[in-house]
Amino acid sequence: VARAKPKLPQLVLNLKAYPQTFGKRAVALAKACVKLEERSGVIVAIAPQTLDVRWCVDAGARVYAQHFDKVLKPESTGWQSVASLADAGCEGVLINHSEHRIDAADVDWFVRAAQDAKLTSILCTKDAAESAAYAKARPQLVAVEPPELIGGDISVTTADPEVVRRSVSAVARSAPGVSVLCGAGVKSGADVTRAIELGAHGILIASGVTKAARPVEVLSDLASGFPSTWRRGRR
Ligand code: G3P
Repeated sequence: VARAKPKLPQLVLNLKAYPQTFGKRAVALAKACVKLEERSGVIVAIAPQTLDVRWCVDAGARVYAQHFDKVLKPESTGWQSVASLADAGCEGVLINHSEHRIDAADVDWFVRAAQDAKLTSILCTKDAAESAAYAKARPQLVAVEPPELIGGDISVTTADPEVVRRSVSAVARSAPGVSVLCGAGVKSGADVTRAIELGAHGILIASGVTKAARPVEVLSDLASGFPSTWRRGRR
């Protein structure tokens, strides 16, 4: 693959609410992500639970929040503002993750709010049609994840390669310059290589790492799947 090395996250580790990733374990994974980026040249980000965001930032990681809320005024108890995530040192945010969907009518608002807070947006979608439509909001990245394959044993790149390929071409048509990640069931460097072959910029992953006996080894394997031309640079 001869494309130039991207500047946006290529490997995004979403910790979700996996209990094996809370607190100090989030910090250990954040440190592993930092080391992996230094060693491999792949741009690696981590999306921890909100309470663990500052710890992961302090560990030097590129931190993405898993979600924020549509906070319109300071009198909003129990709602997560994007401004406080930016203040905590996040580099970006996931928006519309399959496990935390927002209204279609709010997509533009969320992407604009992230942009105003100077955060990178990863806007999640469930299929190619949604990728094409939502990319028009101009997030930096669209991440396509078929809900039925999330947390499963078979990588989207094997189970449904067409959803990746179609998302890549649909986004290129509807919003040129917006990059595409794919996720759901990704487990290995071979899956990553396949994702890149299908035109993706990188991957979003959770269970393949969070439930692994040796998560750091899985992370290294995943990074090894990126083409060497994308792995030469350092941050
Ligand atoms: O955000 C990542 C995600 O939803 C994929 O989850 O467990 O299939 O890697 P998983």
